[in-house]
Amino acid sequence: MSGNTSSNAPRKILVTSALPYANGSIHLGHMVEYVQSDVWVRFQKMQGHTVHYVCADDTHGTPIMLRAEKEGITPEELINRVHAEHYADFSDFLVTFDNYYSTNSEENRELSSRIYRELKSNGKIAIRTIEQYFDPVKQMFLPDRFIKGECPKCHAKDQYGDSCESCGTTYSPTELIEPYSAVSGAPPVRKETEHYFFKLSECENFLREWTRSGTLQPEAANKMGEWFASGLSDWDISRDAPYFGFEIPDAPGKYFYVWLDAPIGYMASFKNLATREGLDFGEYWKADSQAELYHFIGKDILYFHALFWPATLKFSGYRQPTQIFAHGFLTVNGEKMSKSRGTFITARSYLDHVKNPEYLRYYYAAKLNGTMEDIDLNLEDFVARVNSDLVGKYINIASRTAGFIAKRFDGKLAAVENNAVIAELRSAADSIRDSFHNRDTARALRDIMALADKANAYVAENAPWEIAKQPEKSAALHEVCSVSLEAFRLLTLYLKPILPQLAQSIETFLNISPLTWGDIDRPLPAGHEIQAYQHLITRIDPKLVEAMVEANKESMQPQAASQPQKQSQDAIAEETGYISIDDFAKVDLRIARIANAEHVEGAEKLLRLTLDIGEEKPRQVFAGIKSAYDPESLKGRLTVMVVNLAPRKMKFGLSEGMVLAASDERGGPFILSPDSGAQPGMQVK
Ligand code: 2FM
Ligand code: ZN
Repeated sequence: MSGNTSSNAPRKILVTSALPYANGSIHLGHMVEYVQSDVWVRFQKMQGHTVHYVCADDTHGTPIMLRAEKEGITPEELINRVHAEHYADFSDFLVTFDNYYSTNSEENRELSSRIYRELKSNGKIAIRTIEQYFDPVKQMFLPDRFIKGECPKCHAKDQYGDSCESCGTTYSPTELIEPYSAVSGAPPVRKETEHYFFKLSECENFLREWTRSGTLQPEAANKMGEWFASGLSDWDISRDAPYFGFEIPDAPGKYFYVWLDAPIGYMASFKNLATREGLDFGEYWKADSQAELYHFIGKDILYFHALFWPATLKFSGYRQPTQIFAHGFLTVNGEKMSKSRGTFITARSYLDHVKNPEYLRYYYAAKLNGTMEDIDLNLEDFVARVNSDLVGKYINIASRTAGFIAKRFDGKLAAVENNAVIAELRSAADSIRDSFHNRDTARALRDIMALADKANAYVAENAPWEIAKQPEKSAALHEVCSVSLEAFRLLTLYLKPILPQLAQSIETFLNISPLTWGDIDRPLPAGHEIQAYQHLITRIDPKLVEAMVEANKESMQPQAASQPQKQSQDAIAEETGYISIDDFAKVDLRIARIANAEHVEGAEKLLRLTLDIGEEKPRQVFAGIKSAYDPESLKGRLTVMVVNLAPRKMKFGLSEGMVLAASDERGGPFILSPDSGAQPGMQVK
């Protein structure tokens, strides 16, 4: 994804982040994406490209309508209030949108209607009668999540209409035992209704082509392959009144499903910006647009962005995205964010307690590598890393040298010529630029911090505090401090997309105009006068983080014990590319007995395995080994399985682990077997 587009030619770039729903607060999970995209946008702007970065609140749908009703306000009142909150959260995290709009706008209504009409005239809309659950008391059709009842499998009560939280089974709401409406409590009735469908099944050839054109990360392209293999279904784009959204043209009482108008909200937000700033909307959206369009999203909404969205654009006559950048989820201390553990932390709560948004921006950037892997916010590591990198390494360079320039040289710098450290800092520029461009900020920061180490070593070796004691070495002192500050300027430039506020105060301190990428080769001239050094950043006090977690705990539950070993192990692993023993220990491998193996109807590659690992309930695992094994031959065999892989909902059911098998171009898959004597349930280490 680097190469051709990472050169310095001026480009027109439109960037979006996913539109957050207007019925909840922004939390630290959301912030991963906004930090990632804001850093990328700031980096592209520093390259001198024309970049517009737009976003909006995603305001439509049943949950928002019902939430407003519950609060006794109109949906408009709710979305206005939430818009202000979201906007303040983003601004305070230094996420600087060029426009932060709303999907409930006139621009969006017009564009959604226009796109729908185009799809219709291109034969891509079908009207079909379907049967749906209807709440007879509330007089409304119910989305699956608003129907509850008893799980047909494990009989847990009060489960949602799409899946059971207790046993993980997925089903359709019609399978629930004694279903009831989560809105009124009444038993729902089945009722026929006409729905509008976008004929996605007809877009497969186009989408296969589009997927091949470098628009997706490799993991995302693989996911698309799975979706194509299981077949594309037409997409239901309408909902019946009452619904908070846009009415479908010429279809009274029918509304666009929120996911139809949400991505069009990207266009609408840009349209609003274009009108305000006199930009050419068509130049960015016409079918043959030369401008670039990038969507940052979470991996959970890939289906919408990599299938529905390009197909919608294509068959309504617009351009398609240049690239979709999907990221993984956030875990906190290695686990899903949790209200009982106090790790479900809102953006506002972070700001109230820890205050400085740049610590978190730095930490996230240090973890993000441009893939769809999940990232972990380990709170202990967060404190340690920010304090050691930002205060211990980076700021330290200026704090140990700037005072001498003020005291001994009237604040004026000496010329910096032929210095090896500076040459090394400069020569890293292209590689750092490529890392930023590829969203591999983890790599960029590893390189930048290695350069900071070199600059620190230079300061230590030359010990300006020692030279300062010898008046005859005044010129040497001047040079060492000037070189150190030039190194500091270059590091600031590299870090600026991530730490824009700190960079700004350093620009003031160095008495320079806002740094851009081109300033790498423009060192401060001899005689340049800097301001007096003032304290730039403080260490994070771990107590602030502890207080934040306490404040977010919904009930007092014991916290997981902390792991003092972890941070240093992780640091080693990260530098070497190895995984630490702690990382490996996370994988729970066990000997499993294949109690049953069978074909799966409709699956080309999979066998359904029932695996006994000595637990009460055997595990169901779908394994892609059909090509190599007759199910009968597997029954009774021992093999090795990963038992703590997060369960995956597949079309055919829940897969609760993974069996290990070897394969490459020479053959396979070959499943692994233990030597005789091994028993089901034994741990493999
Ligand atoms: O998943 C979500 O939070 C959606 N509100 C994202 C919408 S992104 C875009 F398509 F509008
Ligand atoms: Zn269940």
